[in-house]
Amino acid sequence: MGKIEIADYIEKLTGSITVPGDKSISHRAVMFGALAEGVTEITNFLTGDDCLRTVDIFQKLGVPIRMTEEKISIEGKGLSDFVEPKEVLYFGNSGTTARLMTGILAGSSFCSMFTGDESLNRRPMERVVTPLKKMGADIHGREDGKYLPLSIRGRRLQSIRYELPVLSAQLKSAIIFAALHANGETVIIENSPTRDHTEIMLKQFGGQIERVGKEIKVKGNQSLVGTRVHVPGDFSSAAFFIVLGALAKKSDFIIENIGLNPTRTGLLDVLKRMHGKFEMMKEDGNFEPTGSLRIQSAPLVGTTIGGDMIPRLIDEIPIIALLATQAEGTTVIKDAEELRVKESDRIATVVTELKKLGANIEATEDGMIIEGKTKLSGGYVNSHGDHRIGMMLAIAGLISEEKVIIDQYECTQISYPDFFGDVKKISKMK
Ligand code: S3P
Repeated sequence: MGKIEIADYIEKLTGSITVPGDKSISHRAVMFGALAEGVTEITNFLTGDDCLRTVDIFQKLGVPIRMTEEKISIEGKGLSDFVEPKEVLYFGNSGTTARLMTGILAGSSFCSMFTGDESLNRRPMERVVTPLKKMGADIHGREDGKYLPLSIRGRRLQSIRYELPVLSAQLKSAIIFAALHANGETVIIENSPTRDHTEIMLKQFGGQIERVGKEIKVKGNQSLVGTRVHVPGDFSSAAFFIVLGALAKKSDFIIENIGLNPTRTGLLDVLKRMHGKFEMMKEDGNFEPTGSLRIQSAPLVGTTIGGDMIPRLIDEIPIIALLATQAEGTTVIKDAEELRVKESDRIATVVTELKKLGANIEATEDGMIIEGKTKLSGGYVNSHGDHRIGMMLAIAGLISEEKVIIDQYECTQISYPDFFGDVKKISKMK
């Protein structure tokens, strides 16, 4: 397992950077491209491990996909043209691939088997399996379908009316994909918005989906048409630089071409409440809201984060916890029990690792309480194989004047293959 030593201390960030393509949007672009009729071309695709899993899975389902440095081309022919995979489909660490593919393959005409790495095989699948079974899907798995490995015997599906018991875009998306191949209209009730990339992209591929209040309505038996998708930079990757920029003593820099979909930018609302300094410049004419962001250093104060805000910043909570260690006063993060079932138990891993660097942070059932401001020390920490914990600890290392050594650092390949390359671009680090 790879270790990394961070001895540099960053005081100043200038210039501009772009971050790699959005992970959620990259997955969905391949999925819709494979399900549509005709050619789809994707640019700025994220070539991290998780999204490459999605490409590999569709290749195993017989979909022709060609990858070059510039773009991915997919010759989609629709679900009815996928072929039965000859081997067990391996999803690695990717929860998004596993959950969305369960929805896609539930309506296929063949049998498929799913498994993942140790972390993914511990993550809940029941939330997806339950509504799909209500649609008529034939799915079996470990502990009665609670966990991978799973097997799916594809079947003709029926529409449902379903209220999401957990606010999860992966669950919502799995049902939307299944609904596309079901008889009748499916209605999903979402009591508070989660990321809506599936809905936006379905329209981009010529499909029909409508949101009326809390109800999302999807007609069955839809056919989709291949198109061009340019993936904006990943706001969740930009989040590490947003926090580094806010915390370094003298920053003034720009992150260009990032996704600014309001279902993803809860971190900016938090930063505003903490008295952070930033400026958002949106661009017109894209399916997904996109633009640039200017970040400047600022002294911060603590805040409370919970309720409807949580799904809009769920992946940013590890880096927000670090941000809070450098804000004056108390920060409370609550209603975030979903963190317990991410790539690691992120309440436990964030608290354990930040404590090792001297942070004043305590875990609660559904979040954490952080007292700031604390000067972070050096230390020996571990990512627990979770990419977002690995990068949060790297940022902690960059704002600490002492040396931080991170074990299992290689997992950052999942969402940000050249994270340090970009850190070097906007800092004086060699
Ligand atoms: C994702 C949704 C979120 C997020 C994950 C990606 C997606 O998970 O944490 O990193 O692409 O739909 P949940 O929907 O399970 O909260």
